[in-house]
Parts: sequence; structure tokens; C-alpha cells
Amino acid sequence: MKTHKINMQRAIIYQDALLFKTPFSLRAAIEQGLFLLKIPETFNLEPGIKLCREFYLPATSSTRYRGFRPQTDIYFDREHFQTEHLLVDKTRWATRLPGAVVKMVLAMDALGQVILQAALRELGVAQALWASASGGAVTGQGTHWFAASHYRPERHLPGCAEHQDTGFVTLLYTRQSGLEAFIDGGWQPIEPEPGYFIVNFGACLELLSAQLPLSARAIKHRVRECPALPGQEDRFSFATFINPPASADLYEVQPLGELRRLISAEAFLRRFNERTWQDRHASFGILSEQTQGTPNE
Ligand SMILES: [Fe+2]
Repeated sequence: MKTHKINMQRAIIYQDALLFKTPFSLRAAIEQGLFLLKIPETFNLEPGIKLCREFYLPATSSTRYRGFRPQTDIYFDREHFQTEHLLVDKTRWATRLPGAVVKMVLAMDALGQVILQAALRELGVAQALWASASGGAVTGQGTHWFAASHYRPERHLPGCAEHQDTGFVTLLYTRQSGLEAFIDGGWQPIEPEPGYFIVNFGACLELLSAQLPLSARAIKHRVRECPALPGQEDRFSFATFINPPASADLYEVQPLGELRRLISAEAFLRRFNERTWQDRHASFGILSEQTQGTPNE
């Protein structure tokens, strides 16, 4: 496979503003579908890293970081892939995750919100439409997810299915190779950059902006098989996602600026799950008002 080094835009968040080197960089990042975000100096990643290393291990009484496998409302064993992961929505962060992880996840989620606002502004979506266009996600409502993934090297399977993220904005922390994105007609490795999150846009933002002069790309990505390497730990990653609530509708902004309804978020997610994972978790990532606080399987 022919690969080339992907040139990604770099940004920082300073005083609630998303700043790039040039005024055109955000536009380029939106068109490319991903960019690098400097992790703030004060940010403590350790709780997330510890959770990824331990969540799948048997429970012990001395730690809240282990023993997640039996918690089948938030733990998913992907039978066709190496990955096993936690997916926890915001309403359960405080009760299900260790306190230090919750603090980290809230900080990541807040960064995602700044990015979503900046993207909507750059796309030219009128601010009066932001709340309805995002199902409230832009102001902290909607569905906010945290995921922690572990790649089991003993499985000779792809790491993670090829997919587009479903929501608006994803922040990903990873420190090992394996991520690939579909760029210019081929799969290209996306190497982690120490000190940076990888940010990518999701299908809801792509749909929303498809008819606008600038439209966002929800980049297709996957994780290749990650073999056991001598002296190296298993691959892990963690991420936050900003999505509309399952009860919302997905929209497309028309060239004159008004919103056109496309499909319900729930129908969209069910179709995505069928196509992507092809396993028993048909309601993965769908948190309806009826299922909040109860298992969604
Ligand atoms: Fe993804």
C-alpha cells in the first residue's frame, strides 16, 4: 500500500477560543476531516490511561478502575475485532467512573464543545440555528460519550471496524500506531503526536453541512490489527464524542440557511450499527430517554 505522511493542521484552545496558525487552517481542517489539538499543559491524562490499562481486568476491592467486563450496559466485547471498550454517556460518568477519570472526561468534553462552536461558525451556520441543528449538543445537552478501548493482541482480527464517527466532534487520545484514515483514495496511517489529541468530525456534521459552500468531512477510519510486540504494552485509546440525543432529528442546512430534516438520530444510529459492527449490540450508542440509567441491551 502506498502511504504518505498526512499533513495535519495544529490548533490550541486558549481562553475558550480555538486558534490555528493561519486564518485558513480551520477551513482546511474541516475539509480534511481531522486535525491535531494541543493538550493543555494542566491536563491530567493519567486517569484515562490507567482506566484503559485496567478496565478489562477482574475486579478487586482496592480500585474502581477494574472489573468492568460484567457491566454489560457500558462494556462491549466486539466479537469480530480486537477491540473491547467501555462506552459511557454523560449521565453515568459520575456514578460509573472513578472520580479522577470523570474530571478528565469533563475537561475533554468542554474542549469538544469549543471545537463544535468554532466549526459551526466557520461553516456559516446561523447561531440562532445551532441548538436545533445539534439537538442541543452545542450547549452541553445532547448525548456526550466517553469511550475507553483496549486492543486484544491475542486475537488475529482487525483492531476496529472501518467507520465514520456518528456525531459532531470526537477527541481521541492514543499513543500507539494502528489508526488509519481513508485519504485520497487509500488507507493512510495516522501516527499519534505526543502532546496532542486527534480531533475528527462526525457524520452529523457532514450531513448538516453537505449543501453549504464549505462542508465538513467525517473521515472514514479504522484500526489495523495490532500484534503483541515484545516489551510493549497492548494498544489502548480513549475518546470523547459529542452527539445529538437519540430523540432528536438530523438536519441539513439549505443553501439559503434554513434547516431541512433528514432522519431521526436513532434510525441513523441503528443503520450505522448494522453496517459497522455486525454484532449483537444493535442499540450501541443509542441512549433514548426510556433507557437512560438502565442497560441498553
Ligand atoms: Fe471512530
